[in-house]
Amino acid sequence: MNQVIFPPFTSRDNRLFLEDHDLCELCDLHGTPLLVTSEKRLRENYRRIYNAFSSLYSRFEIRYAIKSNSNPAVISILRDEGSGVDVSSINELNIARYCGVPVEKILFSPNNASRDELLEALKNGVAVNFDDIGQLNILGDKHPETASFRINLNIEKGEFPGTTTAGPNAKFGMPESYAAEAYRQAREIGVRKFGIHVMIGSNVLSPDHFEHVAGEIFNAAGRISRETGIKFDFIDLGGGFGVPYRPEEKELNVDTVASSVINSLEKANAQYGLGNPKLLIEPGRYISADTTVLLGRVNNIKSYTKTFVGTDIGMNIMLRTALYGAYHHIVLANDLSRALSGPKEIVGQICENTDRIAKEREFPEARIDDIIAVFTSGSYVSSMSSNYNGRTRAREILLSDDGIHVVRERDKFEDFVRNTKIPDHLLDNSGK
Ligand code: LLP
Repeated sequence: MNQVIFPPFTSRDNRLFLEDHDLCELCDLHGTPLLVTSEKRLRENYRRIYNAFSSLYSRFEIRYAIKSNSNPAVISILRDEGSGVDVSSINELNIARYCGVPVEKILFSPNNASRDELLEALKNGVAVNFDDIGQLNILGDKHPETASFRINLNIEKGEFPGTTTAGPNAKFGMPESYAAEAYRQAREIGVRKFGIHVMIGSNVLSPDHFEHVAGEIFNAAGRISRETGIKFDFIDLGGGFGVPYRPEEKELNVDTVASSVINSLEKANAQYGLGNPKLLIEPGRYISADTTVLLGRVNNIKSYTKTFVGTDIGMNIMLRTALYGAYHHIVLANDLSRALSGPKEIVGQICENTDRIAKEREFPEARIDDIIAVFTSGSYVSSMSSNYNGRTRAREILLSDDGIHVVRERDKFEDFVRNTKIPDHLLDNSGK
């Protein structure tokens, strides 16, 4: 085997396998582009991060960020594990309800939500992480019983500028200096229970970062509590727990993260008398990213200027590489023994020159009909995909103990026109 593969995938006779399934055979059966997810890995990831924290602090719960992968099968598996969810829109809220997630385990963390959206969440009995006091005020006298605010700590960290969600340039949350007044106003209008929320940025692999953020938000909670006399029912640390995308990256040790976070919570509890609030985290990527591989087929190869490997994985299927310049590791699933043979551009079918899943990537010589496998595709791949250029999204399949399940079908032509209408005067009645 000359090409490096990621767990939980294995190589048999130099072909890529997930559990006992030959992924190239699945492509022959189900077509490409295809996303294949392991139920086993999803459950393992959830349990690893849940056990790391809950073994140290019993008032701990997970709110899986379903923006990272909103397939109902994925959410149902996590609901079965006991997970709650973090949702960013009413449609995500409805997906969670559709999958049977109890309302008390749903947290709504929207940005610039409308009054109607906020009211809809409250009508459903779902707690809200308000982005700032303005979002609570637009509700007037229809305020909720519980309110949590997102604090924009002055920490800028995320894998890319586009995925950094705190600091002076971020559109999210409000600085701590405005928070005490916001909580006072909330109490004045009748809010009785309080939470505090932070989300710094996505895909961070350093345990020290989480220790730092936790220390900052626990201290902020302590200061706000002292200043206003309110007690926090929950403290929500958000997501951001990273996973390796490159072979040389090391995975995040969640036991190390949990022990430093809980240590810091206990210190703040003692210092400020926080009263053992519930601790929430909202991981998305950590739970679903490495459960899934994206498979595509090579349709064309050109070597006039550079070598372009033309596949059926366009930026409509995999946006992250075009949008952020993200790295996803790629191999030839039908021949892992083929040696690397110089830099190539691995591209899709979309009419944009940014449509590349890899730039100047050391890659083996590719041939027509080869199957390429793009690792770490279980988060922010399907959920960010589109029908741009009239291309269909990937079919999604789930590998479970009891077999293979199709969990998302490809769109058909009718799906492309389903919500459109040609006005009567433009209908072609000529019979031509
Ligand atoms: N909670 C909130 C309020 C968030 O905004 C996010 C992600 C999460 C939780 C989950 O973060 P995670 O644990 O997955 O890092 N599309 C980008 C990622 C954007 C993340 C935005 N917020 C990407 O493809 O990398």
